[in-house]
Amino acid sequence: MLSVGPVRPDGFHELATVFHAVSLYDEITAVHADAVTVHVTGPYAEHTPADESNLAVRAARALARKARLRSGALLRVHKQIPVAAGLAGGSADAAGALLACDRLWGLRLPESRLGAVAAGLGSDVPFALQGGTAVGTGRGERLRPVPVGGSLHWVLATADSGLSTPEVYRRLDELRSDRKVPAPSVPGELLAALASADADALAGLLHNDLQEAALALRPALGDTLAAGRTAGALAGIVSGSGPTCVFLARDAVSAGALAVELAASGTCASALAVTGPADVG
Ligand code: C5P
Repeated sequence: MLSVGPVRPDGFHELATVFHAVSLYDEITAVHADAVTVHVTGPYAEHTPADESNLAVRAARALARKARLRSGALLRVHKQIPVAAGLAGGSADAAGALLACDRLWGLRLPESRLGAVAAGLGSDVPFALQGGTAVGTGRGERLRPVPVGGSLHWVLATADSGLSTPEVYRRLDELRSDRKVPAPSVPGELLAALASADADALAGLLHNDLQEAALALRPALGDTLAAGRTAGALAGIVSGSGPTCVFLARDAVSAGALAVELAASGTCASALAVTGPADVG
């Protein structure tokens, strides 16, 4: 669920969103080194920058600055989350680097101080530090944990190439330039459906304000969403700023079958069954 409000004076949009961590993750380790560098492996390694623009590198450097340390670290990232996919994979790497370096350098900073460093790195990084399920407000960095009464079963349909998050937000602004944009909100019914892990109730409440803009930039996503519905998904929406589409299934068996059908539909690059909420290990 992502409700996007008006643009703020700082250029970010006021959000009300439900973040939900799922069982797809990158693995990050850190070992002592003179400087902060990153080595990326895994299926999405070639699409991931390995220089200072890598969010894990920026996170480790920001933490060293905050703690007034001169320490470095070699970060090893095994990248399994698609890049520029609307899944906050870069944010997950930043959060992983913060946790790994906090331990490596013996800092043991309190959660609130790590959270402050995280918020400076990106709107979704504070949530990636916590995992689980949470309502995010502000630009996404102000979090309130949300109870979920059981496991939820999802299928992620990925695309061959990414979408730029700033571009998707810009397109949304263009599409709504003639409308008055209301304050963003998360409906209480959605929180109730999560509390009881009621997939049928949840299906009617999934919504993403960025979907219209992602579809305008990538019309083929309409075919992916239609294929998921035809294959029996309870509901499907674009994830974050896209292009990944996320489908809700009633149970693990339906999610497995849905993933197989979506993968064979020719409307996505891959389809993966996952569960949520996932905790940060
Ligand atoms: O915070 P983050 O670096 O993830 O944001 C990436 C881009 O997404 C921003 O530069 C901005 O264009 C857009 N964004 C926004 N409002 C938010 C979060 C992100 O406009 N609340």
